[in-house]
Amino acid sequence: MSSPRYAAIMGWGMAVPRRVVTNDELARRIDTSDEWIRTRTGITQRHVAGPDEHTSVIATAAGREALERAGLAPAAVDTVIVATCTPDRPFPATASTVQHNLGIPRAGAFDLAAACSGFVYGLSVGTGLVKSGMSRTLLLVAADIFTHLIDWEDRNTCVLFGDGAGAVVLRATEQPSGLLSSNIGSWGEGEGLMAVDAGGTRLPATPDLLAQRRQYVYMHGREIFKHAVRGMCESAEQAVTDAGVGLDAIRLVVPHQANLRIIEAVAKRLGLPMERFFVNLDRYGNTSAASVPIALYEAVQQGRVVDGDLVLLTAFGGGLTWGSCVVRWGTPAL
Ligand code: ACO
Repeated sequence: MSSPRYAAIMGWGMAVPRRVVTNDELARRIDTSDEWIRTRTGITQRHVAGPDEHTSVIATAAGREALERAGLAPAAVDTVIVATCTPDRPFPATASTVQHNLGIPRAGAFDLAAACSGFVYGLSVGTGLVKSGMSRTLLLVAADIFTHLIDWEDRNTCVLFGDGAGAVVLRATEQPSGLLSSNIGSWGEGEGLMAVDAGGTRLPATPDLLAQRRQYVYMHGREIFKHAVRGMCESAEQAVTDAGVGLDAIRLVVPHQANLRIIEAVAKRLGLPMERFFVNLDRYGNTSAASVPIALYEAVQQGRVVDGDLVLLTAFGGGLTWGSCVVRWGTPAL
């Protein structure tokens, strides 16, 4: 039997924690203001996980919705990928927990860590598995409780992030659908521009390091800003070229939702109006790997993407990683 030519996106789901934290609430706790956060980032609120809402919980909820929309039973899934940099535990993979929670009887299950680029990386890897014939039905969930890595006393970082999960189901098909092109990249020299130092094998967490708050994320925001714009623009242009189309054929760009000014800079450099970009970071903040699938989910629900449309997904994140892909939206009959 020959390998399928495409991996269609058959179902989609999302989940966010219950609690909403507004800019005003943050301004009551640290030296910041709603005005600063809105004008510098575009964010007005974010969802923050409670103790019972760890990564696998919201990942499972998003995955369940995606399977229901696809009209597929859990038993149909043969591969589960969870893109996350905030797993439930250092070991084993959160994907195995999600598989168990969803009652998926037998499947390959693994986590993929590419920070905020995780969904685009996962879509590229997942499509490769389907197109090679190794997988027929694949559940990809991108989920992060990034606020777990946040120092709530550091105003440089704590205002930027929120928690969430997004999921899609990929299914082998011969109909032209799903990823038409994709590329992923990383600039390893920039791995120290944004990181959590303590808690891994290089610097196991000790009482001293915890007292220095080294278990939390730090970042060089301005430098990341510049790399983000360049990385997303170059990889987006490459994806469009590889898909054999022009930017004018793209119905909607769904970018990583880190900062409205980054998205505006990307739009300007690509020569596209902001109306062609989907933005929902005002309500969620930067949800790391979950940001692109949550934005894609809302774009579809709002009718901004319909069957047959070409959608450009583009992301960047810690690493520094980036990636873009062109998707032909459409749900072929099972
Ligand atoms: N409230 C009030 N003032 C603040 C706050 C805050 N929350 N945060 C910083 N400031 C202050 C700074 O201390 C600084 O004061 P100073 O001039 O007296 O030193 C001033 O505001 C300006 O700071 P800048 O860093 O110049 O502000 P900038 O306009 O660059 O915006 C920001 C900062 C929002 C972080 C921006 O650089 C950015 O978005 N960078 C990209 C970061 C990013 O997207 N990271 C995620 C990567 S994706 C991933 O892998 C998870």
